[in-house]
Amino acid sequence: MPLALRTSIIGGQLLEYDSLESTNKTAAELLALSKVRHGAVVLAHEQTDGRGQRGRSWISRSGLDITISIVLRPEGLRADAQFALAKIAALAVHDVVSHAVPGEVRIKWPNDVLIERRKVSGILIKNEVIGELVMSSIVGIGLNVNSTGLDPDLVGTSLAMEGGRSVDRITLFGTLCERFEHWWLRWGQDREHGLDAYSERLWARGRWTDVVLDEQPISVRPMDVDATGRLIVEHEDGRVLAYGLDRLRFAPR
Ligand code: BTN
Repeated sequence: MPLALRTSIIGGQLLEYDSLESTNKTAAELLALSKVRHGAVVLAHEQTDGRGQRGRSWISRSGLDITISIVLRPEGLRADAQFALAKIAALAVHDVVSHAVPGEVRIKWPNDVLIERRKVSGILIKNEVIGELVMSSIVGIGLNVNSTGLDPDLVGTSLAMEGGRSVDRITLFGTLCERFEHWWLRWGQDREHGLDAYSERLWARGRWTDVVLDEQPISVRPMDVDATGRLIVEHEDGRVLAYGLDRLRFAPR
């Protein structure tokens, strides 16, 4: 596949495979062998054992979807600020998806991308933390592009299912690298506010929504995320508190 990227960092080293078990797994192996530099992208046209959040599988179709892992070596990123990487990835995917399809595109905390209520992309990040700093990160992105027939029970979708026509996956991959680089650089310029767009694009922001908090189903109003990536929510009694994934998740739909 001819891949001419217009980026200088993200994809500066591009490792393209016909088939891999998991791009995250291969990226981790290459990183351990010091064979990948900052911004390297591992791309697989087929992923046979893709991994998702909470040990789940990530299913993508051979030659139809995007499965990549981006290797980063952030400088001076404190472990308690590592959520910035999740924001960068989610914003980049959000940009790509919102330009490709009609319909409202939102980021469901922490980093799923939804079209209306349907999940089109998932992100799995593995950071290596030493002391107080993130030394390296593997940002795995799965984006359903031309898959069809996704299980409606899982509320999954693809760009082709949404737009009713197939999408040029290779062009899209290039744009994804560009948008990732854009947000990476933006964050580099302004670590405090450069990624504020994440909050503006949050799914269910300001809307009463069913969640599970400490195993109890309740309704809260998501407001924002704090600096460590916890979701800030308003409770029905007016309290505003922040929770991590260890305590709160959105109720299954
Ligand atoms: C999720 O469960 O929502 C996260 C899915 C992440 C899938 C991507 S596909 C590329 C990379 N390689 C993997 O094995 N997983 C991530």
